[in-house]
Amino acid sequence: MTARNGNLQVLLVAYPCGLPQERDFMTADGPIPRPSDGEILIRSIFLSLDPWQRLRMRDPQQFGRQYGKPVVLNEVIPGAVIGEVVQSRNPRYREGDLVEGKLGWQNYAVSHGDSDRSNDGEGVSKVQTFGLPFSLLDVGRPRPGETVVVSAAAGATGSVAGQIAKILGCRVVGLAGSDEKITFLVKELGFDAALNYKTERDLRESLTSQCPDGVDIYIDNVGGPIADLMLALMNDWARWVVVGHLADYEKPLDQHFGVRAQGHVLARRMRMQGFIVHDYAAQFPIARRRIRQWVHEGRLRYREYIAEGLRSAPRTFIEMLNGANLGKTLVRVGPYVESVPR
Ligand SMILES: NC(=O)c1ccc[n+]([C@@H]2O[C@H](COP(=O)([O-])OP(=O)(O)OC[C@H]3O[C@@H](n4cnc5c(N)ncnc54)[C@H](OP(=O)(O)O)[C@@H]3O)[C@@H](O)[C@H]2O)c1
Repeated sequence: MTARNGNLQVLLVAYPCGLPQERDFMTADGPIPRPSDGEILIRSIFLSLDPWQRLRMRDPQQFGRQYGKPVVLNEVIPGAVIGEVVQSRNPRYREGDLVEGKLGWQNYAVSHGDSDRSNDGEGVSKVQTFGLPFSLLDVGRPRPGETVVVSAAAGATGSVAGQIAKILGCRVVGLAGSDEKITFLVKELGFDAALNYKTERDLRESLTSQCPDGVDIYIDNVGGPIADLMLALMNDWARWVVVGHLADYEKPLDQHFGVRAQGHVLARRMRMQGFIVHDYAAQFPIARRRIRQWVHEGRLRYREYIAEGLRSAPRTFIEMLNGANLGKTLVRVGPYVESVPR
């Protein structure tokens, strides 16, 4: 059921070619949905902007089967949101509850309130803490004394993965795209070393000297030429965690980074494994508790790159893909406290 307008929404109107442009997006004034029995109405507070949304913006005609469901043109772009329940017709929720779910680039959404979010469903869960970042341990299996390299290290995922590796006693080297990020990684997050992959004269040589014992784990957020270079630095029995391949996201499939790994994987008996965070959904509560504790103890730090207002989402999304963000990219869609719309 729908009612009056007042629900600002951001739609994708054209599949981007290369880096998205603001003209690929459009804002629209949609209706504020009315919750049916068993449903809740949620007002967005924070919208998370993530590289996976760029992957979903690829033209399905051109790319075929890909990572998740493609964004449908002229529909609200999917996105993770933290919001407030402003109307509840579900006994498990009260007005004022904070929830998180894939509610999209819009001010208001309804949900059935179940926590199942498979297939981009409208499920939500109650938030106990504001979106602390979550990362992986399972695939990389770091051991004290090992050397871990992280790419896109100053971003949401990389900064947490690197710090957790540090907490576990590893030597951690980060790669990022600006000097400000390099200083942040070393001075604020305690990385052992960090290198600006855009300006290092000989990145391979610099990495070799920062990783004198070779590399045991590579947390690969970017793929591309950095991956090519990393292959030669890996130790015997190394683990390569494929978390993302940002360097390819803007490119047609036939221009994706070539597979040149086999020789290295064989010689080093290296394990190269993909990682998708949703596979770990059952462990989110434990991970959150652990991360919260580390944050409170001051052992884990994070930054947020926050833009104001839903209308800024397309620009901020493009900025994030271009590397302007330090830490997690968010849009503050609305204030934390607001009266309930009737
Ligand atoms: N598998 C999963 O479950 C999962 C979950 C979350 C995220 N991811 C992946 O993890 C990666 C990071 O995501 P995030 O949300 O944490 O974003 P983020 O790191 O906060 O933001 C993206 C960053 O990537 C860097 N970058 C962009 N293009 C690049 C390129 N061609 N080469 C090297 N670096 C590039 C930019 O920083 P610089 O200034 O350093 O270039 C930019 O700030 C992405 O690949 C994403 O798809 C995967």
